[in-house]
Amino acid sequence: MKEGDLELLNEIANFENSHDMEKEYRIGWGWRQVRVWPATLSRLFKDGYLENVFKSNSYTGYRLSELGRAVIARESGETVQTSQNQKLDLSEDLFEDVVGHDEVKELLVASLMAEKPVHVLLAGPPALAKTLFLWDIERASGERAIWLVGSATSKAGLWDLVAERQPRVLLIDELDKMNAADTAALLSMMEGGRLVRAKKGRELNLSHLIWVVAATNRLDVLSPELRSRFAIRRLNPYGRDEYLTVVKGVLVRRENVSVEMAEEVAKRLDGRSQDVRDAIRAARLAPQLGVEKAIKLLLGG
Ligand SMILES: Nc1ncnc2c1ncn2[C@@H]1O[C@H](COP(=O)(O)OP(=O)(O)OP(=O)(O)O)[C@@H](O)[C@H]1O
Ligand SMILES: [Mg+2]
Repeated sequence: MKEGDLELLNEIANFENSHDMEKEYRIGWGWRQVRVWPATLSRLFKDGYLENVFKSNSYTGYRLSELGRAVIARESGETVQTSQNQKLDLSEDLFEDVVGHDEVKELLVASLMAEKPVHVLLAGPPALAKTLFLWDIERASGERAIWLVGSATSKAGLWDLVAERQPRVLLIDELDKMNAADTAALLSMMEGGRLVRAKKGRELNLSHLIWVVAATNRLDVLSPELRSRFAIRRLNPYGRDEYLTVVKGVLVRRENVSVEMAEEVAKRLDGRSQDVRDAIRAARLAPQLGVEKAIKLLLGG
């Protein structure tokens, strides 16, 4: 939302409340009635705060959308009940894509189902299914989850995103790369439903709690206060047996490779790589090169 938009929406709401919309403005109001520049209205429409009720060459009729009304209500301190408040309905096959990591699965399910938030941070070297865990949670949560990548947080900023979408779950990949402003917002969001927006001195009470699940390669760059807000689960590189199981599982389930080929790839990589991504690359090249040659070219020697 741009600076001043909320004031505009409030004025529009006042206009709508002081007129009988059904009788006087069945085809919506136009820019002249609310005295807002058409380009601004069209932007508010694009952002979802307005609905387009009527459109002809000479007249565009608008009305506040549900989102627009929700934003106004929220900012004025009223709590808005949304579907986001409902408990997540986590099915048993929530993490069916992830091979192994049984304790992590248990921890995540328990945390997401807890009455009040327990935030979980998955930390560890590459290719240990950290992102896959986040994906599975996103798939199960649908609209109630927001997915963010630390290195590419949106221009609007985390605060606005959360205020507008009111997610129940915040999934943050590459947490270590998140910018300072978003990290500061995150710190307060994780502590309770209250968000204070320093920029305008405005306060916003979220009507619900937020669960944060994040992933990072590096813990050392995170501030102590951020680390302290998470249950930190360190994922260790796969041991040899584990690696074989994971590789077979991933290739068969996710790469549509035959069981025989998956076993061959796993066996030939045994002791030479701990990176599941090597196995995936080998399986993808194998149809052209054969498994042995593919691995030789990929790993050298
Ligand atoms: N236990 C596992 N179960 C299923 N797939 C796995 C497992 N471990 C690794 N993989 C596979 O390895 C690849 C990398 O996984 P993912 O992207 O989740 O790793 P990551 O831990 O997020 O790594 P990075 O730190 O590099 O982002 C994916 O294709 C994923 O399917
Ligand atoms: Mg990842």
